[in-house]
Amino acid sequence: MNDSLNQTKQQIAELRRLLEDYNYQYYVQDNPSVPDAEYDRVMRELIALEQAHPEFQSPDSPSQKVGGQALSVFEQVEHRVPMLSLDNVFSDDELKAFEQRIFDRLKNNQALEFSCEPKLDGLAISILYRNGKLVQAATRGDGRVGENVTDNIKTIRSIPLKLRGDNFPAELEVRGEVFMPKAGFEKLNQQQKENGGKVFANPRNAAAGSLRQLDSKITAARPLAFYAYSVGYFEPEDNIASSHFARMMQLKDWGLPVCPVIKKVTGCQQLAEYYQWIGEQRNSLAYEIDGVVYKVDSIELQQTLGFVARAPRWATAHKFPAQEEITQLLDVEFQVGRTGAITPVARLQPVSVGGVTVSNATLHNADEIERLQIKIGDTVIIRRAGDVIPQIVSVVEEKRDDAELTDIVFPTECPVCGSHVERIENEAVTRCSGGLICGAQLKESIKHFASRKALDVDGLGNKLVEAFVDLEMIKTPADLFKLTAEQIAQMERMGQKSAENLVNALEKAKQTTLAKFLYSLGIREVGEATANNLALHFKTLDAVQTANFEQLIEVNDVGQVVAEHIVSFFAEAHNQTVIEDLLAAGINWPQIEVVSADEQPLKDKIFVLTGTLSTMGRNDAKAYLQGLGAKVTGSVSAKTDYLVAGESAGSKLTKAQDLGIEILTEDDLTALLTEHGVL
Ligand code: IVH
Repeated sequence: MNDSLNQTKQQIAELRRLLEDYNYQYYVQDNPSVPDAEYDRVMRELIALEQAHPEFQSPDSPSQKVGGQALSVFEQVEHRVPMLSLDNVFSDDELKAFEQRIFDRLKNNQALEFSCEPKLDGLAISILYRNGKLVQAATRGDGRVGENVTDNIKTIRSIPLKLRGDNFPAELEVRGEVFMPKAGFEKLNQQQKENGGKVFANPRNAAAGSLRQLDSKITAARPLAFYAYSVGYFEPEDNIASSHFARMMQLKDWGLPVCPVIKKVTGCQQLAEYYQWIGEQRNSLAYEIDGVVYKVDSIELQQTLGFVARAPRWATAHKFPAQEEITQLLDVEFQVGRTGAITPVARLQPVSVGGVTVSNATLHNADEIERLQIKIGDTVIIRRAGDVIPQIVSVVEEKRDDAELTDIVFPTECPVCGSHVERIENEAVTRCSGGLICGAQLKESIKHFASRKALDVDGLGNKLVEAFVDLEMIKTPADLFKLTAEQIAQMERMGQKSAENLVNALEKAKQTTLAKFLYSLGIREVGEATANNLALHFKTLDAVQTANFEQLIEVNDVGQVVAEHIVSFFAEAHNQTVIEDLLAAGINWPQIEVVSADEQPLKDKIFVLTGTLSTMGRNDAKAYLQGLGAKVTGSVSAKTDYLVAGESAGSKLTKAQDLGIEILTEDDLTALLTEHGVL
């Protein structure tokens, strides 16, 4: 090989090594070492070199994540060690019984060590590495024989094509779950809707559907992820650890992603605590889980305990209460929201789902009704997840009785005010065109106006707002300030004292900030952070009102759609009148100091945010900091000025501490933002 070719070969090897390292930092250590743009640049460079030099192509190159030739069928793969399933427990008593059965079999009552991990809601996969290279991957199938999905598995970004280090067994079968993170699922369904494709009922179906594709290019385009949760067959035996938890740490060292909330505990009480702990985090996890799994940690004890039927005696799943139930759709009503959006709401035969009685579910919009092909009278599967409004997953076709069904007809007039409804092309939402003459929109606008993050009027509950509007005592938000204590005292459940309190609260609410005032107006798509950025950017209400489209899109986090909403809001004469009336009522705020871009207080300071913030979303925090001139990046490096560490901050915090970077708590951040007039 000539020198220049040799050089290219080395260059390719170096780029591959770099990308493997970036992948490991990102997927396994959960600590990106370079920005996405840098990753993409290196990847493009590698692909260009590989294309120019096909002789150096390699099936384990990190560039091989795009899928290849489509198959006509999946081959069958026989598992060398059967892939088992798990028994379930649903209560603390059943959990105790699980522990007791183990004690009985071991003839020993000593508290045992368990490895605990979430039960991921995806599908089980077996991946075989031979001499560190991914050679085969198969689905669980019936546990004995599965399908060969190697090409598809190779497209999943977090699954390494090559293991790291050199002390892994020559033959190593890794087992784990392929799943679709919640955000990826939402995005995929959105795209599928836009392209008229199949919309998936839940992330598990989406993961399964994406993996069982004969064309691996389709799988490559789907946002799949993987966590390893056990070791299957391996050979030789020398280097493998003797406890489950230690094995998982080995898999991590070898480059396989393992769920970061895995924990080793002792005894049944701590298992219950783990269940509780994960339950609390469930909604904020990036992926769906349906319980937790406990595994006796010692492999020796696992072998002693063995299996019964198709499940191990040494492990069990502790399931969260069911989130799906079957019930009947009794009727559909149409609700009008603050921006006029008309939402069909399903009235259901009440049913208990995971301990909560559900009698309503959202049907979102006309497309959703079309997608579900649902009719009044249908038997439906409903799903309740965390605090979100219950959803209808699907219709149970087998239980359909055509004679008993009625079509759902979307209204052509607003069910509240009778104004005509409009649906803009390519938008899913149907809206009432009535604006504030629509009682429903008025009620919601006033609730929003008085809400905590807006003008924060203490003591103005939703029921009271509704009554004021129904009695036509209020026609715009400005009318709130004309109410007298005598008028308020006559309302149901209001006395003289609470009426006076409300008048005082309204008086107090007049003293606000420009950002809160902008937010309170309820301009479409203008949330708290955007309102803040508008205020910081323009400094005065007048400047915001007169800004044109081009000036608006200059503002941090204001895109084209938001800019259009802002322009059309202020162009509306009615809105101008409301604003004038509000100012005339005495609403005021402190003048924002005018600083040039060079004088922005956090100009060019580099921040990294990690962990969960309790008082604001991470995106809001990011927008606030950017509004003060800071740069917010995803990874900690020597250039980082500050790391903001929220709840359960992980490896980024450790890295920042190692580098001696200044760490801010959430309280420090709030103080900083308050100091600069943002909060
Ligand atoms: S261990 C012998 N760990 O649950 C033990 N399974 O009901 C075999 N699953 O098919 C499985 N998360 O797809 C294990 N952390 C976890 C899991 C998990 C999800 C799934 C897996 C399996 C099913 C068993």
